[in-house]
Amino acid sequence: MDHGRPVRVLGIETTCDETAAAVIERRSDGGGTILSNIVHSQIEDHARFGGVVPEIAARAHVELLDGIIDRAMTEAGIDYAALSAVAAAAGPGLIGGVIVGLTTAKAIALVHDTPLIAVNHLEAHALTPRLTDALAFPYCLFLASGGHTQIVAVTGVGDYVRLGTTVDDAMGEAFDKVAKMLGLPYPGGPQVERAARSGDPARFAFPRPMLGRSDANFSLSGLKTAVRNEVGRLDRLEDRDIHDLCASFQAAVLESTADRLSVGLKLFHERFGTPQALVAAGGVAANQAIRAALREVAEKAGTTLIIPPPALCTDNGAMIAWAGAERLALGLTDDMEAAPRARWLLDAKATVPTGFANTRAGF
Ligand code: KG4
Ligand code: ZN
Repeated sequence: MDHGRPVRVLGIETTCDETAAAVIERRSDGGGTILSNIVHSQIEDHARFGGVVPEIAARAHVELLDGIIDRAMTEAGIDYAALSAVAAAAGPGLIGGVIVGLTTAKAIALVHDTPLIAVNHLEAHALTPRLTDALAFPYCLFLASGGHTQIVAVTGVGDYVRLGTTVDDAMGEAFDKVAKMLGLPYPGGPQVERAARSGDPARFAFPRPMLGRSDANFSLSGLKTAVRNEVGRLDRLEDRDIHDLCASFQAAVLESTADRLSVGLKLFHERFGTPQALVAAGGVAANQAIRAALREVAEKAGTTLIIPPPALCTDNGAMIAWAGAERLALGLTDDMEAAPRARWLLDAKATVPTGFANTRAGF
């Protein structure tokens, strides 16, 4: 590789309901710049179904992706010949969408004779603070989105140790389901947060899942069921009830999250020493109340909290391009056989926590 020339990578993201492409530049000192970052959210296409419909998502990715890539390249002001590599999220995610993104990346790699990098979507979330904050390893990541809830020790590119995971629902999923039972629109997280602001967090005494346990795992389905039972007991839901239910639910999530993360940071210390930071990523990290709770946890543990800007917390192409650039710098490229993967563990050694019938722990 020519070390004088900045590395420029095109990144493609199609694992869920965002169709996204971006171009980033990585300098030889390890710093990065976003040259373009185009994200099309399909929320409108899915909202009336109350959640993401995989077939609709895959079709929309097919229709939109070429145009989004064109815009990303035009905005970056570079030609395909100037690309050092093309990276695509090859999973985990909805397989139809993953196939669209990865196949498109392979076509670009073949036509323009540039390396292909098949990126793990979770790795891209994990490495984002190195793009936004030039963060050094090792650090502790809290990843909470619609499909994942994990505490991960990030010790190097490709080196991830899962310290905790949800044993049932993902945190964003729990927010979405609570919103749905209260008749609030999809996606529910921001709606629940808004309603909670004017509610009474002490009106309903919901359980604080996993509180005090010595592992750093999460559980959200019991809390969700407690909210459902309470909704059943109230015969008519007034606005006041909705606000109080949201506030009481969120208070339980906050307390549980703070407890789980303080254990996670303790486990991190024992195994890897002092983390450079606690990093939060994923859509749930957009929640102001959760941010405040995380800041407190980080302070207590003697570390700082880093949260990438919201647009880089939620799914985007820049994080895929950046993870691609980090892998490229280590010579980690893929061939045309790279397979799309619905499931793909970030920590290959992680297993399902014992005693739980878990469907999502691998996410
Ligand atoms: O990372 P993301 O954009 O997509 C993936 O799931 O990969 O996360 C979306 C999730 C949804 O479940 C959404 O309800 C949740 O993040 N979310 C929030 C908030 N904003 C988004 N949850 C709680 N509070 C929020 N303000
Ligand atoms: Zn994501």
